[in-house]
Amino acid sequence: MSDLSYFGRTVKYLVICSLTACMFSLPFQHAFADAQRGKQLFQQNCAQCHNPLRDATGPALYGKENEVPGGRKWIYNWVHNSAAVIASGDKYAVNLFNQWNHVQMPPFPQLSTQDIDDILDYVKQVGDEAKQAAAAPAAGGQQTTTAAPASNNNLLYGIITLVLAIVALILLQVNRSLNRMANEKEGIETPEPVPFYRNKTYIAIVSVVLFLMAGYFLTNAAVNIGRQQNYEPTQPIFYSHRVHAGINQINCLYCHAGAEKSRHAMIPSQNICMNCHMAINSYSGPQLYTPEGKPVDGTAEIQKLYYYAGWDPKQRKYVNAGHPIQWVKIHNLPDFVYFSHEQHVAVGKIQCQICHGPIQNMDVVYQYSDLSMGWCVNCHRTTKVHFTDNAYYSNIFMKYHEELKEGKIDSVTEAMLGGTDCQRCHY
Ligand code: HEC
Ligand code: HEC
Ligand code: HEC
Ligand code: HEC
Ligand code: HEC
Ligand code: HEC
Repeated sequence: MSDLSYFGRTVKYLVICSLTACMFSLPFQHAFADAQRGKQLFQQNCAQCHNPLRDATGPALYGKENEVPGGRKWIYNWVHNSAAVIASGDKYAVNLFNQWNHVQMPPFPQLSTQDIDDILDYVKQVGDEAKQAAAAPAAGGQQTTTAAPASNNNLLYGIITLVLAIVALILLQVNRSLNRMANEKEGIETPEPVPFYRNKTYIAIVSVVLFLMAGYFLTNAAVNIGRQQNYEPTQPIFYSHRVHAGINQINCLYCHAGAEKSRHAMIPSQNICMNCHMAINSYSGPQLYTPEGKPVDGTAEIQKLYYYAGWDPKQRKYVNAGHPIQWVKIHNLPDFVYFSHEQHVAVGKIQCQICHGPIQNMDVVYQYSDLSMGWCVNCHRTTKVHFTDNAYYSNIFMKYHEELKEGKIDSVTEAMLGGTDCQRCHY
């Protein structure tokens, strides 16, 4: 055999390699694009005690992976079971525990190292962005989405995939020409090559790939239309739930009285704010920051409230009718879904935080649950209702009362009461 056909085989080998590389780079895109997932995991598991940038119940997490002995590996062990790390006599851990007055961080054995990596990537992203924002003179000052670096990664891997695919195509062409040359040399007639855009195999492969990709993105996009988990809009006043419901322990129902007695929890009017803020005209609590890490002046925010309420703090009286505060609505179910707070809060005795997350630790409220149908239905399937100790059920569903007494069943779920029937939630 000639050198040329040997070369041809090498080219073929290279083609296969680059195609394989293309395929493998696809799943990688996911691994790297997951700072967004990290944000969610952080908010669900860590946010009630940690802030990326400043100390709270626990230390600020930004940059810690470079400080702890053993980097991320140490952090995996720590997060899985910090008590075990302290008990092992690890000097750094024991010191830390003493510094933080023996507050025990709960163990998170359910988080995989990938989960923890995502959390740490998210923390790093927030910290890096805050640093950049501090370095650059305040430009614009509007909400920027934190997803930017994740999509940059996506773009990068997309480009790499494309380049590899083009290289593969070029190599295929080279391979074909070389084969032809080899054949000609040996005097074998080769048919005129079909250009690639008329080559049936190429067309078939490209159509199938496009079809699959389009299908995948369309379904995903369609399922998520109207959903907005983690939505965290900028509000007209920087009103912090952490300051009010957390630090100052104001009851949720003081402001959201509707939650116990109607469908809607309702947003309080400025009169309710003024009950306290006629007297409280400055803010001296812990320094507040926007989600991007910019400092907030609490006293100036209270002045905004005075503007909306039409209150003159110098004369200590209302001087005009004020202007309604246009709070941006965060949670929003579609119109065809019936949901009542009263049913869940007063009858079901479900805590606000189960559905809304650790609101009392949020400076800026974000949507914690995805509010999908699966979310509602799963809870109805698994949650045991307060059945025997509930006046609401004392005279209905007698069958279940009897079965409970006879020990046939040990609990009643909302699904057993019809909570998965379509018409309960849709009308
Ligand atoms: C209930 C509060 C609480 C929660 C929830 C919590 N932590 Fe902690 N964390 C602490 C405290 C307090 C410390 C300081 C050490 C101590 O007292 O145990 C700490 C320390 C740490 C440290 C070491 C920091 C340093 O200075 O070296 C890391 C890393 C950490 N936490 C990560 C996490 C992650 C990741 C999560 C979420 C999966 C989480 N923590 C959830 C309270 C908490
Ligand atoms: C002092 C009054 C006050 C208290 C106390 C308070 N809130 Fe709020 N809440 C507000 C205001 C004002 C808004 C609208 C601005 C915003 O979203 O931050 C709001 C917004 C919300 C939202 C988002 C509403 C939307 O647009 O979808 C939820 C959920 C919520 N609060 C839950 C709670 C829970 C749970 C508690 C108790 C832990 C609580 N609130 C305590 C005043 C209060
Ligand atoms: C079973 C889950 C669940 C519980 C428990 C719950 N909420 Fe909600 N909440 C929701 C859903 C779903 C919405 C969106 C409702 C809509 O768009 O019609 C919502 C919306 C809100 C809003 C926005 C305004 C409104 O009424 O639509 C506020 C404020 C609020 N909840 C506060 C609270 C407070 C305070 C509590 C606890 C006393 C609480 N929620 C308990 C699920 C829950
Ligand atoms: C039950 C009393 C009470 C009510 C009602 C109340 N606040 Fe406050 N507010 C406080 C206290 C206490 C502080 C903290 C003062 C301090 O630490 O110096 C505060 C601080 C603030 C601050 C500065 C810190 C921050 O969160 O940015 C703003 C702005 C504010 N309130 C706005 C509002 C608005 C808007 C409402 C109505 C939705 C409201 N408050 C209702 C008691 C109240
Ligand atoms: C955290 C768990 C949980 C979630 C999430 C939840 N529910 Fe429920 N739901 C309950 C429980 C528990 C009850 C029964 C309360 C009772 O009557 O004791 C209930 C009752 C109801 C009922 C009354 C059913 C009846 O028996 O007539 C409706 C309607 C309903 N839920 C709709 C929804 C919708 C819509 C959503 C999602 C937007 C939702 N729920 C999310 C736990 C939940
Ligand atoms: C516990 C409450 C609940 C029950 C029971 C329920 N749904 Fe839903 N459904 C919802 C909610 C909430 C949404 C809105 C989801 C969203 O916005 O993503 C929804 C959305 C839908 C949609 C719109 C498609 C979509 O995903 O947005 C259809 C169709 C639907 N439901 C059909 C049904 C049928 C059929 C049944 C009975 C087998 C049923 N639902 C039972 C709560 C419920």
